[in-house]
Amino acid sequence: MRTLKNLMVTGGAGFIGSNFIHYLLNGTDFNGRIINADKLTYAGNPDNLSDVEDKFGGSRYFFEKADIGDYGRIKNIFEKYDIDTVIHFAAESHVDRSIFGPKEFIETNIMGTFNLLEVARETWVGKEGTHFHHVSTDEVYGSLGETGFFFENTPYDPRSPYSASKASSDHLVLAYFHTYGLSVTLSNCSNNYGPYQFPEKLIPLMIMNMKEEKSLPVYGDGRYIRDWLYVDDHNSGVWAILNKGKTGETYNIGGENEWENIKLLNVLCEKMAALTGKDKEHYKKLITYVKDRPGHDRRYAINCDRIKMELGWKQTYDFDRGLDKTIKWYLENEKWIARLRSGEYKNWIEKNYEKRQ
Ligand code: NAD
Ligand code: DAU
Repeated sequence: MRTLKNLMVTGGAGFIGSNFIHYLLNGTDFNGRIINADKLTYAGNPDNLSDVEDKFGGSRYFFEKADIGDYGRIKNIFEKYDIDTVIHFAAESHVDRSIFGPKEFIETNIMGTFNLLEVARETWVGKEGTHFHHVSTDEVYGSLGETGFFFENTPYDPRSPYSASKASSDHLVLAYFHTYGLSVTLSNCSNNYGPYQFPEKLIPLMIMNMKEEKSLPVYGDGRYIRDWLYVDDHNSGVWAILNKGKTGETYNIGGENEWENIKLLNVLCEKMAALTGKDKEHYKKLITYVKDRPGHDRRYAINCDRIKMELGWKQTYDFDRGLDKTIKWYLENEKWIARLRSGEYKNWIEKNYEKRQ
């Protein structure tokens, strides 16, 4: 077991990062300090952590608005809090945005990760008990046909600017292990869903559009397959790796829960109808097939035997329970949604998506 004291979470105001901080404080016996370093891009939302700020702010939880690409700022945070552990979530994370404009993906995902690694390498010289965990994606492995799975040793074959930038960052992290002996671990995870997810990703976008009786845009033939995992199950995997994962190694995390997009959407429509007292077919009428995503990966499916066997991790949410919890969260958190909808996100959606339908 590693000893973790002053933990820097990058991108802690985003979807998975904020759920991770909640998970750490409420679901584990971690008793050290959490330093959330986040640039607060469109996807970073302080609302996600207002409860944590109220309860733990200034004692066990500290927020630092910082760009991971800013050397001086990151170095200062390392020194100020005597950081011994980094959990690196911060990234530009949305595939469609990487297609519309890849530059920020290169800057944050590649250059930002490089900068963090440099600061860690320099600051941790001669210091015991330091560790860097890099959070990555199954998209680095490319696209599967009807059969097969991604394993930890599947050759990288990224197709989108997003996945290419994540692949590059994975390689850099491993290079710092092999070349400089930095203590690192990596995780490559499948599609997450749950509370606080920015409503540009499939599940929250569809829930929100249903709420507003807007069309439900399905890319291409809708038969693309993703492997869905509830966000807390991802985070318990990250926590297990952080504590017990073998240094220099990669662990796949997945839901073992493959769904065609159109089938998933039909389930979402039925669940929403049941929850809002509408006819079973009500929301299905909103389904609209639209132009496909360029370079759209056909199927992702993770083999996660390694983390199960070596670290004793397993999923705890079945899809039915996870989806119910997620839909209810979006129905009950009007204020969170309204604040997002009022600004940059609204303009971006209008400019980039609505014209494609
Ligand atoms: P997100 O887009 O919801 O959040 C990203 C966070 O990073 C935001 O808070 C944002 O403000 C912050 N950020 C962006 N650029 C930054 C910069 N330059 N400096 C500091 N902070 C910056 O993303 P997410 O869905 O929570 O994903 C988190 C991580 O998990 C990413 O590395 C992503 O590649 C990976 N991942 C995501 C999924 C998924 O399904 N969402 C699956 C597997 C892996
Ligand atoms: O696999 C892990 C990855 O999952 C993460 O690394 C990414 O950060 C995360 O965004 C996610 O990428 P995807 O591209 O798989 O997720 P997204 O929610 O954008 O799309 C899921 C599927 O739904 C995909 O096949 C595209 C399709 N889709 C998506 C949107 C937003 C639609 O058909 N219509 C839509 O409007």
